[in-house]
Amino acid sequence: KHIAIIMGGYSSEYEISLKSGNVVYNNLDQSKYKGYRVHIFTEKWVYVDDNDNEFPIDKNDFSVTVNGSKITFDAVFNAIHGTPGEDGLMQAYFELLNLPQTSCNYYQAALTFNKRDLLSVLKPYGIKSATSYYLNQGDEINEEEILEKVGLPCFVKPNKSGSSFGISKVKTKDELAIAIVNAYKEDNEIIIESFLDGTEVSVGVINYKGKVTVLPITEIVSENDFFDYEAKYLGKSQEITPARISEEIANKVRVVAKKSYEILKMTGFSRSEFILVNGEPFMLEMNTIPGLTTESLIPQQAREAGISLEELFTNAIELALK
Ligand code: DAL
Ligand code: MG
Repeated sequence: KHIAIIMGGYSSEYEISLKSGNVVYNNLDQSKYKGYRVHIFTEKWVYVDDNDNEFPIDKNDFSVTVNGSKITFDAVFNAIHGTPGEDGLMQAYFELLNLPQTSCNYYQAALTFNKRDLLSVLKPYGIKSATSYYLNQGDEINEEEILEKVGLPCFVKPNKSGSSFGISKVKTKDELAIAIVNAYKEDNEIIIESFLDGTEVSVGVINYKGKVTVLPITEIVSENDFFDYEAKYLGKSQEITPARISEEIANKVRVVAKKSYEILKMTGFSRSEFILVNGEPFMLEMNTIPGLTTESLIPQQAREAGISLEELFTNAIELALK
C-alpha cells in the first residue's frame, strides 16, 4: 500500500513535524507499506524522494506524478502539528477526497485544537481545568479584570497552538502586557489560565487493535519554569515513564484521559496533559497529532507499554484503512 506521510505545516511547529514525519517514514513496516514523504508548506505541497527531489502534489486528488506515472495513495499518515494538520483543515480535505487518514476527523481535530472549546466541552462531564480568561485579537485588555479572575502567577497561551510556542508564565502584573503580545504572535485568540500548583503528567490514549488503550503515564520534571520549548526538545527536562505517582492517582488520570477520549468520540492518536493538584487531575489540553520525535512522549510511552514504533504506526494505518 502507498502511504503518504504528511509533514511540515504552516505553523511554528513545522520543524518538529518534519522530525515526527521522518520517524514515521523510518519506522514503517516495509513489507506492508511504501511510505512517501509529503511536505505541506504554504508555498508548496510536494512529494520528496530519498534524493530530495520534489514532485508537486495535485491538490485535486492528492496524487503525484513521478517520471510520467501517477501515484495515488491508499492512506495518509498525518504528522503535521499545528495548522493545517492538527486543526481539522487537512482532515476535512481528506474526508472530501475519501482518503483514509490516521488522525481523528475534522471536527474532533478543530475542537481539540482549540484549548478553550475543548476544556469547556469537557467541563460539564466533571473534567477539571484551570480558571481561565479568554481574549480575541482586538478585544480591550483589562489587566485588573484578568488578574482578578486568574490571579498570579498565571499562564498566557495562544488558544490554538502547540509545542509551547507563545506561552509565558506571568509572575508580576507588569509582565502581563508583553506576554499577551507574544501569545498573539502565534494565534488570534489567547487564553490566560490560573497557575495550577502540582505535578505535570502526560498520557497517550490511542485506539490499539480496536480497543481504547491508555498508555503508561509520563511525569514531567522541567528544569525551566514550565514545560516550555527548551524543556520539551532541548533536554531541559526529565520525562519519567511510568510517573512516580501512587496507583490511586495514576488510576484517576487514566480514567479522566480515557473518559475524555470517549466523550469526544476520538479515534487515532491523542495525548493529554494534566497537572495533579492534590492528586486531582486538571486538564491542560489534548493533542491529536502528538509529537513522534525521539524526544517526544508517545514513543516513550509506547516503548514502556512494549509496543514498537513499527507496531504503533502499523496499527494507526490499519485503523485508518478499515
Ligand atoms: N505539539 C507537540 C508536537 C506535541 O504535542 O507533542
Ligand atoms: Mg500541545
